Amino acid sequence: MRSLHVRSAAVLAALSLALTACATQPPAPEAVPAPLAEVSTPTQTAAPKPKAEKKDASKPKAAPLKLTWPTPTPPTPEEAATGTTVFKTAKRIGGIDCSIDKCVALTYDDGPGAYTEKLLKHLRDGNAKATFFMVGRMANARPDVVRKVAAEGHLIANHTWNHPDLRKLSASGQKSEIDSTAKTLRKLSGQPVTMLRPPYGAYNSNTRELGVSLIMWDVDTMDWKTRSTSETVRRALAGVKPGSIILMHDIHAPTVAAAPQLIKELKKRGYVLVTVDQLLGSGKAGKVYFRR
Ligand code: NI
Repeated sequence: MRSLHVRSAAVLAALSLALTACATQPPAPEAVPAPLAEVSTPTQTAAPKPKAEKKDASKPKAAPLKLTWPTPTPPTPEEAATGTTVFKTAKRIGGIDCSIDKCVALTYDDGPGAYTEKLLKHLRDGNAKATFFMVGRMANARPDVVRKVAAEGHLIANHTWNHPDLRKLSASGQKSEIDSTAKTLRKLSGQPVTMLRPPYGAYNSNTRELGVSLIMWDVDTMDWKTRSTSETVRRALAGVKPGSIILMHDIHAPTVAAAPQLIKELKKRGYVLVTVDQLLGSGKAGKVYFRR
């Protein structure tokens, strides 16, 4: 199915149309949920009241990932001259610290899909980690892929069960979308699932009461729209800064095909490719993050 994508708020109305269309499509022949419409519409939530640290203090802490990063390349002469990305890793022993390292988080939404395992291979080949914001019903259809993503050290996070615009749901409706997905993902991955990317970047004050951190992005590759490998790479590199969160979708083949070149080029520029929890820490419930 062709995704409908809009950036302008003026076209938001088309969203409900697209979703309606989505719901009326016949099931995909392979009985896997149809690809999702994706809209990048970061939402301005009106002055949300700061939420105290959420209830779930008993929640188990994610085990630290065992990572084997190559030493990132030193800064370019330009970087060294301008001091924009001072490279301090040598001052530490081992591990990654995004307060000093030049980190970037690749994030993939809407899967797992038919190309996710291919993406895992690219990430493995590039010795890179990524974050997968999975849709519950997609995960339910490909449980082995979810297990594999987790086993390879990537972070699994919540992208709701049905990919709705959460603003159109009641508080309990939102909770149901989040909780069912978290439960399934946790069962399959063994990871606590405490980070949410609301579909379409759309949320309201109720979303911030759900006990999860909201992870947006600061670099939108528009991969769902261009469906172009070279354009996905170009836009990612054009927007990336130390601490960036790059938005992509692993349900699109050209996006997955972009991974090797994107990883290679980011590393060449001195970036360390990390998961969102490495970039931001575990995240505070109710807080909205766009980048480090
Ligand atoms: Ni999505």
